[in-house]
Amino acid sequence: MLERRELLISMAVVAVVTTSGCSPLAADAAAQAPVRGTPGSAGVGDSIFPGAGNGGYDVAHYALDLTVEPKSRAALSGTSTITAKATQNLSRFNLDLSRLTVERVEVDGTTAKFSRKGNELTITPSNPIAKGAKFATVITYHGTPKVLPGLIGGSQDGWIKTDDGAFVMGEPLGAMTWHPVNNTVHDPATYDVAVTVPAGLTGVSNGRYVGKESADFGRNTFRWSNRTQTIPYAATLAVGKFTLETGKTKAGVPIVNAVDPRHHASSRKALEEIPAIIAWGEKLFGPYPVDSAGAIIDHAPKIGAALETIGRPVYGKTPTSTVMAHEYAHQWFGNSVRFSDWSQIWLNEGFATYAMWMWDEERGRATTQEWFDGVYRVPAEDKFWAPVPGKPATGKELFGDPVYYRGAMVLHKVRQAVGDKVFSKILKAWTAEHRNRTAVIEQFISLTEKMSGKPTRKIFDVWLFGKGKPKKP
Ligand code: TRP
Ligand code: ZN
Repeated sequence: MLERRELLISMAVVAVVTTSGCSPLAADAAAQAPVRGTPGSAGVGDSIFPGAGNGGYDVAHYALDLTVEPKSRAALSGTSTITAKATQNLSRFNLDLSRLTVERVEVDGTTAKFSRKGNELTITPSNPIAKGAKFATVITYHGTPKVLPGLIGGSQDGWIKTDDGAFVMGEPLGAMTWHPVNNTVHDPATYDVAVTVPAGLTGVSNGRYVGKESADFGRNTFRWSNRTQTIPYAATLAVGKFTLETGKTKAGVPIVNAVDPRHHASSRKALEEIPAIIAWGEKLFGPYPVDSAGAIIDHAPKIGAALETIGRPVYGKTPTSTVMAHEYAHQWFGNSVRFSDWSQIWLNEGFATYAMWMWDEERGRATTQEWFDGVYRVPAEDKFWAPVPGKPATGKELFGDPVYYRGAMVLHKVRQAVGDKVFSKILKAWTAEHRNRTAVIEQFISLTEKMSGKPTRKIFDVWLFGKGKPKKP
């Protein structure tokens, strides 16, 4: 005891001596010596979208304060305050932003220089930022967002206009059509969204509903707070005529549904299923990984697809509960467990599609075997059997039928090989081990072998990485 105390005291003395030996002036100069930084990279090297995302910093939080005037020439205006931490000494850094006009950028309260080139917004702070430092970037911007061409039939990527407003479906890259962003699954963050809209309209986003306040010119501000780590494509904003309906899941997570009045009656049945879908998901996949739940049901007859925006998926029309189960499954598979490269999209779509088959089985509509057999009937000559679902080569292949349906078949074969009980254990272990993290397909394959003790790799070779229709179902 005593020895240790003496040791501590003598160390303290040494510390005092050292500090006093250094003049206060010299210490100040050292603190102020500018760090020499290098530019953060303009992409994170994804195999399909090499320019998406940026390096050199890690975003913690986006605070968006936006005004949406659907009828104005500048439909969107406001500020984004991005809190981030430098992961290197940074002389400058990039954000991704598609079109829109940047008016002003501040870093830590000081005006920063910025330039634009393609989808890259390059920000040069007045002083380099030291590695490890937290810094706040405030970007004031406005414009009329322009959606990117969709990679999936009957959809678009980004800000989608409707007859009374707009909503965002931003997978894979459309997040950058509405706010400056580190557009990669490697940099999830929390979001606060305050959206001010004309009287009669409602602004909706992810997370918990904080409330509504009146603003100038008869407008209203709607505030949303999303505390779950969110990848950029899973964040959304919707503006239009909506009724907000609230509830709770069986575990007490708040539900907020935003429903276009034209879909009020037709959406009752599916919306009432939300607590049951989430409870079923928890039984099969483990704890629900999001702090909120619900749906945004808008009216966009031309948009055929739905997107799994975090906690609160977006639909362009009344969804079936089968589609809802798919979007909810993505909360575990995609939003919580994330692929590390877009070519591994099977980890999202194969799983969500198989979950949807299992939901139909649960509800007594069609068995997973019937779903499987129906897909297997596609003739061998069909181009459906050509791409490799485990490794799409182009953006177009990411959301193609092979990834979804052949992707689901793989999981059916695995489930048959290991049995229902082990299969569910595997899914739960997967979502637990990689919760709020990225993962790769190889890790899933090893997990199935480890947990079942069976040589499941053969199934993946044939059904996930094989070319052509497997000879036997
Ligand atoms: N992830 C969506 C799903 O399967 C599909 C999708 C991808 C999408 N990109 C989109 C839907 C853009 C709408 C818009 O559930
Ligand atoms: Zn999906």
